[in-house]
Amino acid sequence: MEQLKHDYINIFGMGEKKHMFFAPGRVNLIGEHTDYNGGYVLPCSLHIGTYAVARLNDDGMIRLYSKNFHEDGIVSMTKEELAYDERHGWANYPKGMIQALMPKHVQKGIDVLYYGNIPNGAGLSSSASIELVTAVMLNELFQLNIEMMELVKISQKVENEYIGVNCGIMDQFAVGMGKAGHALLLDCQTLQYEYLPLSLEDCSIVIANTNKKRGLADSAYNERRATCEQALAKLQRYVSIHSLSDLTTEQFNEYAHILSSTEQKRVRHVVSENERTKQAAFALQQGDLHTFGQLMRQSHESLRDDYEVTGKELDTLVEAAWKHKGTIGARMTGAGFGGCTVNIVKDDHIPSFIEEVGQMYEMEIGYAPSFYVAKIGDGAKQLTKEGESMR
Ligand code: GLA
Repeated sequence: MEQLKHDYINIFGMGEKKHMFFAPGRVNLIGEHTDYNGGYVLPCSLHIGTYAVARLNDDGMIRLYSKNFHEDGIVSMTKEELAYDERHGWANYPKGMIQALMPKHVQKGIDVLYYGNIPNGAGLSSSASIELVTAVMLNELFQLNIEMMELVKISQKVENEYIGVNCGIMDQFAVGMGKAGHALLLDCQTLQYEYLPLSLEDCSIVIANTNKKRGLADSAYNERRATCEQALAKLQRYVSIHSLSDLTTEQFNEYAHILSSTEQKRVRHVVSENERTKQAAFALQQGDLHTFGQLMRQSHESLRDDYEVTGKELDTLVEAAWKHKGTIGARMTGAGFGGCTVNIVKDDHIPSFIEEVGQMYEMEIGYAPSFYVAKIGDGAKQLTKEGESMR
């Protein structure tokens, strides 16, 4: 916090009343590609994320600076210049949020410094994180009194309509509503949710990054969504369902023949993954980590064989983890096509896990993965207390 305060003064100069905000990244334990199919997900918010230091200014300008993209300098604009602009790169995320939330009539502007410690593009929701940190910041600075649930929905809308990525609600929800020490069981159809204590006994969550670069905007993600929508429309002629997650295994077996072979595979993943997520949540509540780990493995296999979103890097990293004796469970996490895996590993085996899994991956792929032992932190929030300012 001290460092960021110092940086802020260097960039924007001395002045009064600045506040600091934080929004985490997220890791999904199980329930992948189920959110936009009206199913269950089980993510948790991380202790790493995005910080924003901000204060209002009197000249009405919006000035945005990211320590992660310092070469871009200060990106500044008036309130009339908030339309998406490719040249603004990372700054489009906060711009979209500002356009959605900043009251039109106020004279004031804002000067914001961002700093994120989630690896970008690794599938740990760096974009939902910058959206939500901007949302809580605007909510506080302009005293909007908007509830977190609403901020979550607005952030997803910005991602869909302003950024142009057709994502579901999971990332923004986990980043906004997460709770330290807990996983979040969310029904993406009703948005009902439950916090499940994440008691992993003598184990920890280890995130492994394939370090393969990929963009969520990848056409493959939107293509999966489109296939699911097509399959749903076909099935709705025969069964009364709102989303693919309403389909039972029996109904799937009965009507699979009306679908193309690709649609069959995609739907089989959605139906089975939704079932696994409910079972995994139950296993977690029972303290049955062994079953949880087995479900993680089945989830990966289904994402590999039926949903086809893994690829060589993720498969290699997960298979290496499955071979390690300290591993309780391992699977890809997030959208896939690169990004990270999530692993539950016995604490006393973590050093050898990192070494051996890292070596196996590097030998096969040609470059090293990165590892993070995850801590489960809170959702988006203000870090400086109400009324208090950072000088
Ligand atoms: C990305 C999207 C989410 C979700 C996952 C896959 O993270 O942003 O909405 O669809 O992929 O589970």
